[in-house]
Amino acid sequence: MYQPETAPPLSTNVHLLRWVKKMSLLCKPDHIHWVDGSQSEYERLCDEMVGNGTMLRLNQDLWPGCFLARSDSSDVARVEDRTFICSASKDGAGPTNNWMNPFEMKKKLRSLFNGCMKGRTMYVLPFCMGPLDSPMAQIGVQLTDSPYAVANMRIMARIGQPVFDLIDRTDKRVVPCMHTVGAPLGPGEKDVPWPCNKEKYIAHFPETREIWSYGSGYGGNALLGKKCFALRIASAMARDEGWMAEHMLILGVEDPHGHKTYVAAAFPSACGKTNFAMLIPPEPFAKAGWKISTVGDDIAWIKPGRDGRLHAINPEAGFFGVAPGTGEKTNPNAMATLRKNTIFTNVALTPEGGVWWEGMTDEPPAECIDWQGKPWTPHLAKETGAKAAHPNARFTAPASQCPTIDPDWENPAGVPISAILFGGRRATTMPLVSQAFNWTNGVYAGATMGSETTAAAAGTIGKVRRDPMAMLPFCGYNMGDYFRHWISMQNNLSETPRIFSVNWFRKDAAGRFLWPGFGENMRVLKWIVERSTGNGMSKETPIGWMPRYEDIDWTGMDFPKEKFDELQKLDRTAWRTEVLSHEELFLDLHSHLPKELIYERELLICRM
Ligand code: OXD
Ligand code: MN
Repeated sequence: MYQPETAPPLSTNVHLLRWVKKMSLLCKPDHIHWVDGSQSEYERLCDEMVGNGTMLRLNQDLWPGCFLARSDSSDVARVEDRTFICSASKDGAGPTNNWMNPFEMKKKLRSLFNGCMKGRTMYVLPFCMGPLDSPMAQIGVQLTDSPYAVANMRIMARIGQPVFDLIDRTDKRVVPCMHTVGAPLGPGEKDVPWPCNKEKYIAHFPETREIWSYGSGYGGNALLGKKCFALRIASAMARDEGWMAEHMLILGVEDPHGHKTYVAAAFPSACGKTNFAMLIPPEPFAKAGWKISTVGDDIAWIKPGRDGRLHAINPEAGFFGVAPGTGEKTNPNAMATLRKNTIFTNVALTPEGGVWWEGMTDEPPAECIDWQGKPWTPHLAKETGAKAAHPNARFTAPASQCPTIDPDWENPAGVPISAILFGGRRATTMPLVSQAFNWTNGVYAGATMGSETTAAAAGTIGKVRRDPMAMLPFCGYNMGDYFRHWISMQNNLSETPRIFSVNWFRKDAAGRFLWPGFGENMRVLKWIVERSTGNGMSKETPIGWMPRYEDIDWTGMDFPKEKFDELQKLDRTAWRTEVLSHEELFLDLHSHLPKELIYERELLICRM
């Protein structure tokens, strides 16, 4: 009879014990390991992964506590075409999600998961999204056969015994999360460094609040607390319970008088959320006393507080950041964060046992081992275009190591949000910054935002796609209903955050960026804070309130007015095309689209 080897469970919750038993009978692992989350357990897991080639230990003098993992070359990004929202009705998932009937999907998954963990260990990984003592926090338990997922989740979430204790102590609902790499081992069969399966399913059941992920060990496909739970499942919970689960960074702006304003910003994947969340103000601003602090870089859970304002927590405990493009010049705070206790995935290995990726330094190393384990030189790169690191290579680093981490980043009540920013990567049409006329007008701006696609998801790169609120790949239900939920949030608030659109990526006719970005974004942020706290000046335009040249603080920067005018230019011909493509999205969503957005579009056309 099948009998896995198992240590005593770390929880007494009968539902949990019963579920683990049932799932182990399905997956048939050789061992069951209850994850306590301790440092010694983490070290043992890492040693094991080093032993079988999943990870390399980096030079511990240079990179203390750091590891490098190399994934299979077929398993390098989120797989949106294999991501499913299995709501009871197709309409519930809406036209922007892949839908499958939940009963059929369950049948399919039960057959795929049957025996999927043979020869492996099943880890019982409890995790809490949000600070353990926060009323906004949510709990999940991930059953996984990937020690890499366990190690990464230890950085990205609160895990282990304290979470089991919370499950035993409270009646908080637990979201069951099933995960397998889909690569059972036969008796005596040798494992590969990165087991995975060609066939992949990332399946969500929003009604029963379950996640089943099959075939991938990478990022959002495998660290189920992140995109699967904290966005897709949480967005459905949030709709039912009157809060919001958003793909947003959260940062604090402190002015020279010590007054703090918190801002949340939605940018699509790999559009610089991490850089913006850790922004360093230009020198004259820093000297004057402006400070930026970081609450989160990817996800915000936002809820109306007793004061009638929106308050946000970061449900995560770490950063799963895109490595390429991150360097001392672009983001020294991220570089300081990842100096120790970090897991790197798919970056290059240097001869001295360190890591490197494109954009980390101006000068590449003379030689290194690329993300696939092959020799790489700058010469080879010139000749063949070969990248040392995969464009979606990542670092998994503890948020607590960030030099700019906000003192309130783990405040159980969250931080009050005064402004919400929407921004995409747009070479044309969209100005540097504009402010919506009101909440509904701002929801329209978010709903119609577009961006050029990046390497964070498998597929074509550089094509503009509509990505409402940067949630297109992450909304767990019908996008039209999601817009309605956004609009209705206003009903429970006495003060709504002001809403802004930003675009750091506009280019001139020769294809050069018009705006330097990075620290200089502080100038835009200062105007946003002034507008949100009632002092900023602006002018009215058809697409919203915009700063005049003299409304931006140019101290220490020589930026000609003509260039600013080009950056802010309202190109009416381009906007005609833009509004038509809003219509395309609206046609897809028409049966669930709130009337308010149709009126907003009409008003925009009239103003044009
Ligand atoms: C991410 C993403 O990993 O958005 O944060 O893809
Ligand atoms: Mn993201």
